[in-house]
Amino acid sequence: MAAHYLKNLSVFLLFILLLVISANGNAQNNDFCVDCHNSHYTDIADCVTCHRGIPETRRKDLAHQNLIKGKYAKFLLNVFSDRKRGIELIKLSGCRRCHSIGGKGSTLSVNLDSSIENIAVKEIVKTIKEPSEFMPDFNFTSEQITYIINGLLYLSFTDRDVEKNFTQMVHIGTKKSNTFSEKCGNCHKMISPLRGPVGSGYVAPNLSGLLSQYYPRNINGKEWNAKLLKKWLKNPRELNSNALMPVLELSEREFAEIEKTFGK
Ligand code: HEC
Ligand code: HEC
Ligand code: HEC
Ligand code: HEC
Repeated sequence: MAAHYLKNLSVFLLFILLLVISANGNAQNNDFCVDCHNSHYTDIADCVTCHRGIPETRRKDLAHQNLIKGKYAKFLLNVFSDRKRGIELIKLSGCRRCHSIGGKGSTLSVNLDSSIENIAVKEIVKTIKEPSEFMPDFNFTSEQITYIINGLLYLSFTDRDVEKNFTQMVHIGTKKSNTFSEKCGNCHKMISPLRGPVGSGYVAPNLSGLLSQYYPRNINGKEWNAKLLKKWLKNPRELNSNALMPVLELSEREFAEIEKTFGK
């Protein structure tokens, strides 16, 4: 009886073993991308690491779901400088003062590591070309956007193992008038850590993240801080003789309010 049981068990185990082996074999052979395409760069990664898509189907439209086209797929190759230029542009443009990218940056707006993983690349391209109200329009050329996508893909790829930081500001009460919207909002706008989107002006810089390490401009070679901001607001021309911004009459209470709006 016991022998019979053992025999059955070993047949069962053999069956499981075969199943595992064939499933493994399938994982490698189930790649129908190469039914229609020559393979390349296989020493670096598999097709879907660079291009995404669904390799287990012979139906082209399905296989190409969420595909990363060739020009955006250079992020893992060292022979192209596209990703380096992209990372440089991301830095110079101060994307991180509003977004977290590669696990670093601010949570004032969406986490781009999860965006680039979950949204089709052409949608990402579209938002950079036609940004929403509180994202600056950088007027990038299509070529520059290609670099940026390669940069974003690379940075989020290298951050893949790091636990994604999904904490994001919840913005409430944005319609309510406040000192920033009254005194600055005709010329500036920004996303405030405290108040969310404030102001509606477009003639002066978007001030989001002014007091963070990711703000793209300095003042006389120094990073902006609460003290310099106060000095600037007293008289911009004391810090920059060419400044166009007018002197504004602000009470101590209003200064304090504005500093708070910047998150300090
Ligand atoms: C049934 C055949 C078929 C399968 C399966 C298939 N493709 Fe394609 N693929 C095509 C054809 C045809 C084109 C030419 C452009 C088009 O029609 O979209 C193409 C174009 C592409 C391009 C170029 C897009 C561009 O403009 O840069 C890439 C990259 C690509 N395929 C990757 C893949 C990957 C990765 C897979 C597997 C996940 C795959 N394809 C599966 C037929 C296929
Ligand atoms: C390391 C990243 C990488 C891997 C892995 C990779 N590709 Fe590509 N692929 C690229 C790049 C970059 C391009 C753009 C043109 C070039 O560099 O050859 C591209 C272009 C393409 C194109 C567009 C036609 C062309 O030659 O311009 C197709 C189709 C394609 N790849 C299919 C595949 C398939 C199928 C696989 C899997 C066998 C694969 N790729 C694996 C990076 C990769
Ligand atoms: C001043 C703040 C700010 C800066 C700087 C900024 N963005 Fe944005 N970005 C936003 C806002 C606000 C949205 C809209 C978020 C929403 O729809 O909830 C957005 C949305 C996006 C989206 C769409 C994401 C999605 O999931 O829909 C992408 C992609 C993006 N930004 C890329 C960039 C890149 C690349 C840069 C740098 C070149 C950049 N942003 C700089 C504020 C900013
Ligand atoms: C009448 C329009 C106007 C108003 C109102 C205004 N600003 Fe400005 N601000 C500007 C302009 C234009 C600049 C661009 C630099 C310059 O002065 O030439 C600027 C620049 C700045 C800068 C420097 C940003 C950078 O990237 O260099 C800060 C900080 C700033 N403003 C803060 C404020 C605050 C805070 C308020 C409200 C208390 C305010 N501004 C009100 C027009 C305005």
